[in-house]
Amino acid sequence: MNTEVTEKAPAKINLTLDVLYKRGDGYHELEMVMTSVDLADHVTLKTIEENSIIIQSNNGFLPLDQRNHAYKAALLIKERFNIQLGVEMMIKKNIPIAAGLGGGSSDAAATLRGLNQLWNLGLSLDELAILGAEVGSDVPYCIYGGTAFASGRGEKIEQLDAVPQCWVVLVKPKKGISTGTVFNALSYDTLKHPATYSMIAAIKEQDYLRMTKLIGNSLEETSIIRQPSIEKIKEKMISFGADAALMSGSGPTIFALCRKYSRAQRVYNGLKGFCNEVYLVRTLK
Ligand code: C5P
Repeated sequence: MNTEVTEKAPAKINLTLDVLYKRGDGYHELEMVMTSVDLADHVTLKTIEENSIIIQSNNGFLPLDQRNHAYKAALLIKERFNIQLGVEMMIKKNIPIAAGLGGGSSDAAATLRGLNQLWNLGLSLDELAILGAEVGSDVPYCIYGGTAFASGRGEKIEQLDAVPQCWVVLVKPKKGISTGTVFNALSYDTLKHPATYSMIAAIKEQDYLRMTKLIGNSLEETSIIRQPSIEKIKEKMISFGADAALMSGSGPTIFALCRKYSRAQRVYNGLKGFCNEVYLVRTLK
């Protein structure tokens, strides 16, 4: 039996995020196209005899209790399968927190995948995704990773072909944004709606240029009102030669897509002088 498992928890970006309407349960009906990038946290899980969940992290800002999605995921598995053992987790954070990159959801998904192995539960990815939906709306997507179309409140997943590989420059402005706050501040009459199904077609045709023209996020304008630096960073990315730039999720991280490495480096170097947290990564196959 394994006594220790390490799972990679990659970040995601939203190529599209469309808010369709507010539902009766308070959540928003969404359609999104997401893809994983090679910036990842590492979640190491160890079984302990004591019946408790202990989280440690290299990042002092990470909550280590019920507020952490990975904690919720471990508690859910323990309760659902009546596991009387405990788990000690080490979350090595590389993905910025409260950034719109799905870091917390990806850690939770890694915890579910890891505990499934560690405790020999024999659950399929589809079964893990159903459990994940109880932890958070983006967790089911993170169970599979890769490129996917997500709908419902984000928990219904259809996997897509990988996007044509390209470079991604991520810029995280200093202040984080809470997802709930952005959704609550939406003004529906002026919402912009990206062409999700055209994006899906562009990915199918591996048409990178078309993809760059179709990226869009209904939440962007609302987040820009709270953090005008998002707009400035987008403009800088384009002026340094990015093929396209957009806010990811509810923000505040902005990503730039570049086909050529030399362009991506120029965007990276240009933004590095302006913001502390800048990353140059690739889309994952
Ligand atoms: O599901 P999760 O806990 O990640 O969502 C965080 C918050 O984001 C929710 O409490 C809700 O305010 C908002 N949300 C929403 N509609 C969605 C997903 C999230 O309004 N589809």
